[in-house]
Amino acid sequence: MKLEIYESEHHLALALASAVAGAIRRQPDMVLGLPTGRTPIALYGELVRLTCREGLDWSRVRTFNLDEFVGLSAETPGSYRSFMHQHLFAHVNLAGRHIGFLDGLAADVEAECDRYERAIAAAGGIDLVILGIGANGHIGFNEPAPALASRTHRVALEDESRAGNALWFGGDAARVPREALSMGMATILNAREVVLIATGEGKADAVAAMIRGGITTELPASFLQLHPHVTVMLDEAAAGDLR
Ligand code: F6R
Repeated sequence: MKLEIYESEHHLALALASAVAGAIRRQPDMVLGLPTGRTPIALYGELVRLTCREGLDWSRVRTFNLDEFVGLSAETPGSYRSFMHQHLFAHVNLAGRHIGFLDGLAADVEAECDRYERAIAAAGGIDLVILGIGANGHIGFNEPAPALASRTHRVALEDESRAGNALWFGGDAARVPREALSMGMATILNAREVVLIATGEGKADAVAAMIRGGITTELPASFLQLHPHVTVMLDEAAAGDLR
């Protein structure tokens, strides 16, 4: 794993936004895997600024988000689809048909997960997946468990993960859906390149375990040790337990 430590969340966002913009310029039809959450907000802000300033062209880029809550429509506040609209999609010239998202209202969940896997494969796989990390070591919504699902699947969220998402539901963890659909571990590990971003001291334990600990299903992010092209981008606080 390549490790990069930045003096602030802002510096990290600047560096990654500039790397993503460079990648899009080199490969205008690239396929991106994208996270939601508190951590990537600064990244999306920088990408939008850079797009306006430099006229970055997203018209051929394709995206697949990592996950979505079960039971929420794309328009419902709190859904990851509405988060992405607010922070990125509404501000860049991504074609609607190029935006891949799991449907939280799908009646047939298994068919929806299969559709997502097929759509990713039809796009030629993911070139670059950007990940956050949960304080419990989850990536996407692959929660710590005795066994991990390899492909896109339905998942019951841990209380810690629901608490981590309370922000999008008026600060009330009880309003966070109990289930989500998530790319699986193999779906993520099949991406040609992985960048994991983490900021704040609340992530320091999980980050240190991911880098220094053994590979274990109880810390799903530790499986990134198996991937040949992973960059971990941290601010000082998230790197606190590595020193
Ligand atoms: C969300 C996702 C999650 C988050 C993680 C960190 O799409 O994939 O794994 O990246 O829960 O969330 P924040 O950034 O809110 O701390």
